[in-house]
Amino acid sequence: MSAVVLELESVNAFYDKSHILKNVSLSVGEGEVVALLGRNGSGRSTTLKAVMGLASVRSGEIRFHGKPIQHRPTYNLAKLGIAFVPEDRRVFPNLTIAENLRLAALSGRKGNWTEKRIYEYFAVLGERRDKLAKLSGGEQQMLAIARALIANPAIILLDEPMEGLAPLIARNVEDVVRRIREEGNTILLVEQNVEIAMSLSDRGYILSNGRVMASGKIDELKADTAAMQRYLAV
Ligand SMILES: Nc1ncnc2c1ncn2[C@@H]1O[C@H](COP(=O)(O)OP(=O)(O)OP(=O)(O)O)[C@@H](O)[C@H]1O
Ligand SMILES: [Mg+2]
Repeated sequence: MSAVVLELESVNAFYDKSHILKNVSLSVGEGEVVALLGRNGSGRSTTLKAVMGLASVRSGEIRFHGKPIQHRPTYNLAKLGIAFVPEDRRVFPNLTIAENLRLAALSGRKGNWTEKRIYEYFAVLGERRDKLAKLSGGEQQMLAIARALIANPAIILLDEPMEGLAPLIARNVEDVVRRIREEGNTILLVEQNVEIAMSLSDRGYILSNGRVMASGKIDELKADTAAMQRYLAV
């Protein structure tokens, strides 16, 4: 059993008065890719946001390498080793690609990922490093993932990285996620396409209405056809 990087224990999370996550418990081990599965509105993004301090955690505990983090400010988490690639990507269009990366590097940790290595890995970013980051959807997503990597995180929270991209571009992003995985990175992944999500992951949790309804190794989840049909409609 690998070391646990991230752990949620009986987390109840709210947006204002709306109670969204109900007693959510999950864990992500070092080098694992763990999928958060569920229908639209099931609480997948909220789970990532709860970790990042962007949804209010009123009870339960979130631990990073065994230490509670739910009272840490969001800006602190990158330094600690948690990178978040949100659904809306949020790159800075008025900064160059290089500036976007340097900003992310400053708020993160030192490690193997350097600007140079990012440009080798993402040729499209290297070619345009000094251009403003007014980018297509696919390029924005590459930059968003690159910004996460350059912070040298212990875990990356990835929210629907292929969402809204043309099929060919989505495939490129999928390949990037696969490569990052193969290098042993630890990822908590939200991906709408169940087949793709499962092909990228070691284990998964199925959420419905803010609760974990099933969990296990991908093969175990696939074999649980009742849960798959009921909560994922596949
Ligand atoms: N800022 C917010 N304020 C109040 N309710 C919210 C907010 N964001 C999301 N919700 C609600 O929380 C529930 C869970 O949303 P969440 O974004 O976690 O879903 P999801 O599983 O990521 O699905 P999708 O991305 O397809 O919407 C939904 O009912 C949603 O309407
Ligand atoms: Mg979402």
